[in-house]
Amino acid sequence: MSAGPRHIALVPAAGSGSRFGAALPKQYTPLAGHPLLFHALAALARHPRIDRVAVVISADDEWFASHDFTAIAGRLDVLRRGGDTRAESVRNGLRALESHVDAHDWILVHDAARPCLPAVVIDRLIDTLADDAIGGIAALPVADTLKRSDADSRIEATVPRAGLWAAQTPQMFRYGVLRDALERCDLAVVTDEAGAVEALGHAPRLVEGDPANLKVTYARDVALATHLLQAMETST
Ligand code: C5P
Repeated sequence: MSAGPRHIALVPAAGSGSRFGAALPKQYTPLAGHPLLFHALAALARHPRIDRVAVVISADDEWFASHDFTAIAGRLDVLRRGGDTRAESVRNGLRALESHVDAHDWILVHDAARPCLPAVVIDRLIDTLADDAIGGIAALPVADTLKRSDADSRIEATVPRAGLWAAQTPQMFRYGVLRDALERCDLAVVTDEAGAVEALGHAPRLVEGDPANLKVTYARDVALATHLLQAMETST
């Protein structure tokens, strides 16, 4: 009996957090007693179907070592190989994993800035994509009416939302496919893994995400993420 493909999480956490407007990189923002990054890693490390979690931090990261990751340390590999862009950090992480994975193993790339990842989203990705040759992403159909603005914040157009989804993470791809995509794409242009895979001509699957799985982007998002995290902890 051969073992099935493994599921390895890869968390790029080498950003400087420029949109966040703080000197501290966003992934180290305190949230419910831990840095934001801890919660994203813990959601993955505690999931029984995730075999390992690798986090990519900047080579000169001066914050990681000052936090306590012992609760998840047994399943965590720390890779000091951050790049200039998120895509480059992910590519560097994939290169570092090369001798530990097979081309068919699954890589779940998850933002350090998404601390409230529900376990059910991981299950849905793994179950839906089990027989898929390529992979797919967590995403939500767009519910709001979309407006395109002009330079004066006036509505230039109403954009039809039919068929539009907002991409989340995890983005789950076969190692071989994702590695190939990120080795061949323009790292400065790609904003998510799916974009790189699409550029190879593949059509990744859309898998239902969760509204709680928000990305902490602006300082105002911290209060909402804290609230959601506490609500999720009391419901489990
Ligand atoms: O800035 P943004 O929220 O889009 O970053 C998404 C994720 O990519 C974060 O986890 C961030 O730390 C990571 N990142 C990275 N290397 C970079 C830029 C961003 O690992 N050079």
